[in-house]
Amino acid sequence: MPYNDVTKENLNKMVKIFYAKVLQDDIVGPFFIAKLGDDLKSDTWAAHLELLTNFWASIAIGDSAYKGNPFAPHLNIENLSTQAFQRWLELFAQTLDTVYNPEIANFFKQRSRIIAGNFMRNLGLS
Ligand code: HEM
Repeated sequence: MPYNDVTKENLNKMVKIFYAKVLQDDIVGPFFIAKLGDDLKSDTWAAHLELLTNFWASIAIGDSAYKGNPFAPHLNIENLSTQAFQRWLELFAQTLDTVYNPEIANFFKQRSRIIAGNFMRNLGLS
């Protein structure tokens, strides 16, 4: 690290680092703990980490493994707020800065801001 290319292996590393930060965070952690528990090594979390690795691989390297609907699960999360999305984006940006070179980090930051903006609009958050 920092990596100068995107592979599924380094994406998997990135999502693990990101969700480890998320679980420690007072604002976003509780939403994840409520749905997936607090043990990053559990089977539930392993499945989420794989899903998210595939999700970002579909965006960055055109990988075809992700078949889900990224927005749908967020409809079932109560009390999601703009503040929570902002913290999510901050933690994601911090992670990217440690894992990837600035060009790749910026690519993911931009994509994450666009997607978060769409999610917030769909949830009626401003
Ligand atoms: C405060 C903000 C957010 C919270 C609290 C949150 C929470 C969650 C939770 C708890 C799940 C798992 C739901 C389940 O399995 O029942 C999930 C799934 C997911 N999240 Fe988020 N999320 C947030 C923002 C985002 C953003 C900004 C993105 C993308 C840039 C994102 C991408 C995804 C994807 C791809 C999934 C998997 C969807 C699927 O099942 O295929 N999330 N999120």
